[in-house]
Amino acid sequence: MYYAVISLMPMFAESCFEVVQVSLTVIKRGVLNGSRSTGQARAIDRQFSRYLSPLVSFGGVKKANYRRIANTYDIARSMSEENLELWLRLISEKLGDHRNLKLLDLGCGTGRFSIPIADRLGYSVTGADESSAMLREARKKDEGAQVKWDIQEATSLSYPVESFDAVFMSHLLHHVDEPLRVVEECHRILRPKGILLDRYGAIEDIHDDPEHRFFPRIIELDRARTPTVEQVEKWFGTAGFKRVSSETIEQRTFSYVEERVKKAELRHTSALTLISQSDFKQGLEALREYVSDNPDDPWLLNDRITLTIGER
Ligand SMILES: C[S@@+](CC[C@H](N)C(=O)[O-])C[C@H]1O[C@@H](n2cnc3c(N)ncnc32)[C@H](O)[C@@H]1O
Repeated sequence: MYYAVISLMPMFAESCFEVVQVSLTVIKRGVLNGSRSTGQARAIDRQFSRYLSPLVSFGGVKKANYRRIANTYDIARSMSEENLELWLRLISEKLGDHRNLKLLDLGCGTGRFSIPIADRLGYSVTGADESSAMLREARKKDEGAQVKWDIQEATSLSYPVESFDAVFMSHLLHHVDEPLRVVEECHRILRPKGILLDRYGAIEDIHDDPEHRFFPRIIELDRARTPTVEQVEKWFGTAGFKRVSSETIEQRTFSYVEERVKKAELRHTSALTLISQSDFKQGLEALREYVSDNPDDPWLLNDRITLTIGER
């Protein structure tokens, strides 16, 4: 009995911290949404970050370990040519056909977007990330020579004011403790009328996807760290961006249903790298079973991804 209680304690503690962490995030979102002015929202966000972030982090906001993920990232997150073209088309529609437009890909990882943006759109691209392991993978690629790679912490960029025409971020903001500060940094380094583009899976779009359905532990994690579209637009507005708008794209991420299982086996989302081995195994079995019973279900093939843009 004593042994059972002792061995269950870490699990109990972890669950309590998760409840505290989710509650704080929900309270923070509520308070921010109710704030009367951008100045007030900024002040509230700072106070939350200053006093509550240490508690929240201690409580188990787990951070993806990109040092460990880096060498399998490109296989796990490979993107079809069709999807790459879709995103490049959207980016060039928003930014125009300006050769040498100065674009920062913030949280660029292994250069999944920075390289084709430089190569095919002809923009002058800087790829910045806090992870030297991810940047090492980016630098290994031949076409990566067209991009300038920088180690940068997104909440305190070393670039001077007004140094870029555009900033692009893909799947970054849910990884940082102070997303508003990142958006404010983007505002600072963009020239007047410069454009910020944020590509991400909003919580309302991912909460019922196959990963969240079959690996239920990741829903707690993503509820705590992943914003809604409304929240991202609010950050943009608070940071001073104008003409903020969002569009959500349903993309076919997987060519066939078993591909989703194969990618899940590689833990293709950061949330999947953060759950225990037993939760992972259980989820994988449930996903495999569903796929073999429902091989024609289109829900298994698609994902919803949002692009929010704003003008400095
Ligand atoms: C999911 S990956 C996305 C990589 C790339 N944008 C893509 O779509 O393939 C998230 C990236 O954000 C980076 N990152 C996380 N927190 C960061 C921070 N505070 N400052 C800079 N980069 C950060 C990670 O190192 C990682 O490379």
